[in-house]
Amino acid sequence: MRRYLISGNWKMNTTRATGVELVKALAAGCEGDESVDVLVFPPAPYLIPILDAVKGTSIQVGAQNAYFEEPGAYTGEVGLEMLQDIGCETLLVGHSERRHVFGETDELLNRKVKVALDKGFRVVLCVGELLSERQDDRTNEVLDTQMAGGLKDVTAEQLGQVVIAYEPVWAIGTGHTASPEQADAAHANIRGWLATNYSTDAAEAMQILYGGSVKADNAAELLGQPNVDGALVGGASLKASAFLPIIQAGIAATKG
Ligand code: PGA
Repeated sequence: MRRYLISGNWKMNTTRATGVELVKALAAGCEGDESVDVLVFPPAPYLIPILDAVKGTSIQVGAQNAYFEEPGAYTGEVGLEMLQDIGCETLLVGHSERRHVFGETDELLNRKVKVALDKGFRVVLCVGELLSERQDDRTNEVLDTQMAGGLKDVTAEQLGQVVIAYEPVWAIGTGHTASPEQADAAHANIRGWLATNYSTDAAEAMQILYGGSVKADNAAELLGQPNVDGALVGGASLKASAFLPIIQAGIAATKG
């Protein structure tokens, strides 16, 4: 059975103090039951204090972004070696804000994915369609293109270090969650793409997270879908009182 992964994308939010307080509260809330994995993506300047704060707990920490080049003249960028140097080896790639606000293409994202995997990172690759693409009935086609683009030249062996997050762009930060059926259908399509392009075993093993307005009151239903293996939570991951119930929903779904 696939393990559930409940992750929180803090985006450009929190302060050092509120971030540390948040992970301490999450660690305390998760103590004693590690049946789901819990992962947070703090802003880059707070990675070190957050990594320190989670030492000895089950909370995992990833970076929201990094550049694929070796150290050098890339003003403003954070290198993958720098993340490894501080003990951070999970990377979020392809979030819709990186694609749409910062213009990152599948080609550029693929370079991040490849180099990060080559260096041993776990990569959480986000894919998802725009509202107009869904309305044009192009959701599966868009997902297939993003999967093929993001995972180009990723080997079957490396695929074990990949997690996919399905995040319909129209559901991110809007309060409009995909229905459990819409989420499950998109996840099934992603799993089908993996079966065709890798193997049924690889498709079955893949953790596929849903993201887009996940909250305490819709988490149980989404996580109860057969193809949904966790969540990537934005707004509701910024307060322990909002995020812990989503983790609890994951634990309940695991126990079935
Ligand atoms: P949201 O964000 O939960 O605030 O919709 C999800 C995400 O962007 O990862």
